[in-house]
Amino acid sequence: MSIKAEEISALIKQQIENYDSDIEVNDVGTVIEIGDGIARVHGLDHVMSGELVEFSNGVMGMAQNLEENNVGVVILGPFTEIREGDEVRRTGRIMQVPVGDELIGRVVNSLGQPVDGNGPIESTKTRPIEAKAPGVMDRKSVDEPLQTGIKVIDSMVPIGRGQRELIIGDRQTGKTSIAIDTILNQKEEDVICIYVSIGQKDSTVSGVVETLRQHGALDYTIVVNAGASEPAPLLYLAPYAGVSMGEEFMYNGKHVLVVYDDLSKQAAAYRELSLLLRRPPGREAFPGDVFFLHSRLLERAAKLSDDKGGGSLTALPFVETQAGDIGAYIPTNVISITDGQIFLQSDLFHSGVRPAINPGLSVSRVGGSAQIKAMKKVAGTLRLDLASFRELESFAQFGSDLDKATQAKLDRGQRTVEILKQGLHQPQRVEYQVAIIYALVNGFLDDIPVEDVVRFEEELHAYLKQHGSELLNHIRETGNLPEKDEFNKVVSDFKNTFVVSE
Ligand SMILES: Nc1ncnc2c1ncn2[C@@H]1O[C@H](COP(=O)(O)OP(=O)(O)O)[C@@H](O)[C@H]1O
Ligand SMILES: [Mg+2]
Repeated sequence: MSIKAEEISALIKQQIENYDSDIEVNDVGTVIEIGDGIARVHGLDHVMSGELVEFSNGVMGMAQNLEENNVGVVILGPFTEIREGDEVRRTGRIMQVPVGDELIGRVVNSLGQPVDGNGPIESTKTRPIEAKAPGVMDRKSVDEPLQTGIKVIDSMVPIGRGQRELIIGDRQTGKTSIAIDTILNQKEEDVICIYVSIGQKDSTVSGVVETLRQHGALDYTIVVNAGASEPAPLLYLAPYAGVSMGEEFMYNGKHVLVVYDDLSKQAAAYRELSLLLRRPPGREAFPGDVFFLHSRLLERAAKLSDDKGGGSLTALPFVETQAGDIGAYIPTNVISITDGQIFLQSDLFHSGVRPAINPGLSVSRVGGSAQIKAMKKVAGTLRLDLASFRELESFAQFGSDLDKATQAKLDRGQRTVEILKQGLHQPQRVEYQVAIIYALVNGFLDDIPVEDVVRFEEELHAYLKQHGSELLNHIRETGNLPEKDEFNKVVSDFKNTFVVSE
């Protein structure tokens, strides 16, 4: 029997060629240390930063710290069953979440898995949770309003589609309520909403979901929930999961609103995770890249150019302050990243001014160009009026003799404060907002007793619905104010029917 050398070498070559491909994808490592939701894994030399890995019991993890001899992996699920010596496999995939219409109306976790008990989500598409933000050339400046339905916001700190506006305040100042009411107001605005809840009690979140459901807002909303009881990595990931789901709609030419409630808790979760990974702590024990944590998230909000479909993604990040301290690390970071902030204050909230927004400290840096003309006209002086009212108010406490002009300013100011109050879950369409602010700034309310102002507004709106639908349509459709005489006539006709209380 003769052996041909070429044959053998060809066989060996073939074997070698077929050999490693199988192993390389599976690249297997071993757990060398485990605890507190973090595993150190040896042998995953080719793993990518942020890559998903799978433990032998099926739990997933995400590669974070790529060190010389081992990899720090955060575990995305129950970790008590994982032992030292267990196998860990690469998946070759960066962390992804399911996206698409199928998610609308659902409550999902940070991995995009349903947690509402309504069965599986039949989505066929996924997106990586870390993605590059659209570049300068793909964007266009913000030029369309994102109507929140909240008078004090839409009139004085208007938000545009594609903008990033921070909502900041202590706990229990009405932050979450602003998120809910803004989502409720998108019902007829054709905006898809994503509410990302981070580190809240599950009972609170189910309350929010219930409110959305009752008002029919779940039909266009996705809720991403990373609850307080879930492991820190899931809290850290939730906002990125949410924005990826939003991007899918934005890149398809739709308008999206993403609310992050709140980024303070996400930053705290990231701090926990970083300390466990033994990254060096810095200010307030946050790791050095906590700025990047939020900037890379908020950069993904955008108004796309017409070439790119003209979609938009508006971001409303929330930050919770301690005792109103907006100078702390996370608040200052996020203030510097966003296009403005809406500041809620406890003392206003407790004195009955709700929404408890302080217009003096709130600003929207791009919103002005995103207000309809009619609103811009009527609300133009509102902020200054209010500021000078607050100033006069403190003076007036001392003096008794006030000149007429001062008294008039005080009267107007008191009525302005009343008009800007708004109850829960009563978002107002822009034409109704314009109508009442028009009546206010044109003096129709000056001789109405302060305690009747709220009723005046309600009855004016009801009257307009019946007798002024043309005016309302005009504002809504053209964005302009109606003819002054015409508008004045309708408002004074109404005022003649209004009965002042005794
Ligand atoms: N505009 C409002 N009118 C009346 N009550 C409000 C208003 N906004 C918030 N609240 C109430 O205040 C409480 C705290 O509001 P919430 O939005 O949960 O605050 P935060 O998210 O800042 O902790 C809730 O019970 C809510 O119902
Ligand atoms: Mg809240």
